[in-house]
Formats: sequence, C-alpha cells, structure tokens
Amino acid sequence: MMRIFLPTLVAIWAVHAFAFVTPPYPVFLQASPTVLRTASQGATLDQHLMDLAQKFKLEIFDLDEGLFGFDSKDNRYGLEVVHTNIDVGNDGLGLVLTEMAGSPDGRGLVMVSKITGNAAKANPQAIHVGDTITGVMANDGVLKERVTAFNYDKTVEAIGRAKESSTDGTITLELNRLIKRLPVRVEIDDGSGHVQVIEALAGENLRRMFMRKQLKLYDERTRRFDQPFNTGNCGGDGVCGTCLVNVLQGMDLLNPKDSHEVFITKGRPPSWRASCRTTVGFNNVGGTLRISLHPQSELPEELSPGVKSLKP
Ligand code: FES
Repeated sequence: MMRIFLPTLVAIWAVHAFAFVTPPYPVFLQASPTVLRTASQGATLDQHLMDLAQKFKLEIFDLDEGLFGFDSKDNRYGLEVVHTNIDVGNDGLGLVLTEMAGSPDGRGLVMVSKITGNAAKANPQAIHVGDTITGVMANDGVLKERVTAFNYDKTVEAIGRAKESSTDGTITLELNRLIKRLPVRVEIDDGSGHVQVIEALAGENLRRMFMRKQLKLYDERTRRFDQPFNTGNCGGDGVCGTCLVNVLQGMDLLNPKDSHEVFITKGRPPSWRASCRTTVGFNNVGGTLRISLHPQSELPEELSPGVKSLKP
C-alpha cells in the first residue's frame, strides 16, 4: 500500500471550483449488478459517512478533458491518496459502495460504506469506510482507468473491466481518503533569544504561512539568484532564492527538495530550505519545526555565492 499525503491547497490551479456536496445533498443508493455487494445488503449511512461526504468538494482541472480531482472543503482535513491491491475472486471485492451525491451530467461522489469479504480479509487497514475510489488498475500492466467523480454505475463498470483484464486475480484501487491534518508548531528563532511561535497544520506551505501571518520573510537587500543585479522575490515560483530559511530542528517534518530547490540551494548548507518549496508536516507528520530567517545575510559573500545578502 502506498500513501501520499496531499495538502488541502494541492488544487489551487483549478480552473473552476464546484461545490459538489452542499447540504441538503442528494443521497442515492443503488444495487450492484455484478462485482460489488449490494448496498441493500448492509450499507450504513451513519453520521460519520455523511459528515465525510460533506467535506469533499470537486475541483475541475479541465472540463474539456474531463479532468477532476477531489479536495477538502474543511481546512482541518487533507486528502491522502492510497493504492491497494484487492483479490477479486469469486466472492467479489467485498465492498459496499454508496453514491452519496450525484449530478445530472453523470458525475458522483461514490464512497465505501461497508467492507466485508475479500477486502476485509486481504488487509482490513487498506480501505476505510468513507474512502472514494479515484482510479482502477487491472494489474495486467495495461488497463488503468481514472474514475474520479464517476457516478456509481460508471465506477462499478470500470471495476468490472479491471476484473476482466486482471491476469493475477487482483486489481489495484486508488482511493482518496480524508484525514485530519496533524498540528505542527513552527518556532521562528531570531537568534537573539526571541522566538515567535506559529501553530500550523500539516500540509501547509511554509512561505504561505509567513504570508498568512504577515511576517517579513524576504531580506529586501538579498540579490536574486536568477537576476544577479536585481533584488526582490519571485512570488513563490522557486527561481529567485530570496525566501531561504535555516532549519534548526525538525528537518524530518519537511518534504524532500524538488529540482527547483536543489538548484537554488546548491552549495549552501543542507539545513537551508527555500520556504516557497517547503511543506511543513509532509505526509501528515506532526511535531515541532524550529527555523531562522534570512540565513544568507549571516554568511560572508564568498561562502554564499549566487544568493547573497547586500547587507553592509
Ligand atoms: S520566493 Fe522565489 S524562490 Fe522562493
């Protein structure tokens, strides 16, 4: 099982946002034709499931291409992506799916409402009530279908196709799961004994956190990495290198550096991070992060080529 934690703001580039589940929302229960257990055999529309359904919202990335993604309407929750293998033997998957919301154009929010049989036997922790299926793979190396926001019928049909194509008797499901974001305490040490504390939630971008708190992140006199004769920041695009911080504690709470950040921190101490490329509480890990700002202003120029402070 592979897990990837996605922060709430993962879909900020969405072209349109469509509030998908707004109470009172429609609830449709439909019987499974072949693969799945029927909803009438024990789906439980308990309050927990209803609460989760109301937290999902649908982001439309590209309407023409039919590209959708789920996100959380509740900032206290983030989305985790889980991949899991399930035996699709004679007893079927052992899942009850319930369409918690639907739209006239065939989109829906289909959630796991009960886990029995093969799904429960294979790995009880792999699938949770409240998960929604966003991808189906046949394990034949060929058939992969994205089923994000498919309605009940289309989801079941895709699972049926994967089952038909499976060569080893199993299929892989990609699931979106809402999980509560863990708290991260961010301590900003100014080096003179004063520490400012920000209470954050796992998955937040470090630079956006500074913006939210209206903290002075950039050293105005710092020379840009990409434009050596200019100052000023790039607005979080990961090309200027003026948003650096020094991590004093809690490096294990942060995401690995991407290629942009590797480039702009090349030759700098490994504890330096570009805040615009840094996620606190990566993979929903909570804890304490301690940092200092403007590390480039503390180094002599010869030790800090490229990104260097113009501080006298
Ligand atoms: S703001 Fe430019 S690299 Fe971070």
